[in-house]
Amino acid sequence: MGRGGSASQVDEHTPVLAAEALMGLALEADGYYVDATFGRGGHTALILQALGREGRVLALDRDPQAIASGRQRFADEVRLTLVHASFAELGTLVPAHAHDRPCRGVLFDLGVSSPQLDDARRGFSFRADGPLDMRMDPTRGEPVSAWLARAGLDEIRQVIATFGEERFARRVAQAIVARRGERPLTHTRELAELISRAVRTREPGKHPATRTFQALRMYINDELGQLGHGLAGALERLAPGGRLVAISFHSLEDRLVKHLMQRESQPDPALRSLPLLPAHARPRLKLIGRKQRASAAERQRNPRARSALLRVAERLP
Ligand SMILES: C[S@@+](CC[C@H](N)C(=O)[O-])C[C@H]1O[C@@H](n2cnc3c(N)ncnc32)[C@H](O)[C@@H]1O
Repeated sequence: MGRGGSASQVDEHTPVLAAEALMGLALEADGYYVDATFGRGGHTALILQALGREGRVLALDRDPQAIASGRQRFADEVRLTLVHASFAELGTLVPAHAHDRPCRGVLFDLGVSSPQLDDARRGFSFRADGPLDMRMDPTRGEPVSAWLARAGLDEIRQVIATFGEERFARRVAQAIVARRGERPLTHTRELAELISRAVRTREPGKHPATRTFQALRMYINDELGQLGHGLAGALERLAPGGRLVAISFHSLEDRLVKHLMQRESQPDPALRSLPLLPAHARPRLKLIGRKQRASAAERQRNPRARSALLRVAERLP
């Protein structure tokens, strides 16, 4: 594909761990649910199918293209409200759209969607050439190319090492800094080729640029910061008995989800020994089941499902 790339031919995303996510939400026909990561609406469509006439879904996505595509696909669906927003704003958005209904469940299906990866113009993919952008919301913030043009060598190294767990982060950062001294790095393929030369090891089935691209994407979109706010907002807004379901694709994301669920399912350690726990020290969540992975059949059908991990917790009174 040439520079600038072409739009994705297929505007679809196969929902991962769909049956498990629905089961985790323990849907009630007339409940109010939040899909914090609408994407192309795969999970939302299944939730709506299971709800009755009084059921409602609030679906968010920070990507304006996801929302535009959803508005077309679900044009006749009166039970769905689609909002272009970050899930970091869940704390205010959930009550704003609740019409006094309790929130019975929040679903997070993290990471990027297939249409985002497939559209070279978004700059997420090292396989197709496009502008080095990687913003999920291109109306805010700066593209990766702008950050790489100004960040210090050590900052770049740290981002690649932390979010990409890349052993050769220093070599990659050095190569980027050397290249930008000659001319600006503006396109995905240039960066992918630069990384292929800097990274010595070859992991089976993995392009040498995989780790660096993932790291840059997570950093430029502040994915972990957003997730921290999103989980806190969900916890605050879920009604007692409401379910929190999170599907993550990266060990650092899963660690955040796991730690929050574990911490919130214990009494406050400082007050644990009191004979009667004050309300604010009681656990706010109950863990539901163990972490789940996609079945072998799903992993074979959908390679994205291979790294997916699902966790469920229930809001306590
Ligand atoms: C894996 S896809 C979701 C796919 C969706 N479940 C489906 O079945 O079509 C993740 C989506 O979450 C969105 N997203 C990621 N971080 C977000 C955030 N902080 N706030 C809102 N949306 C976010 C991305 O733009 C992307 O569209």
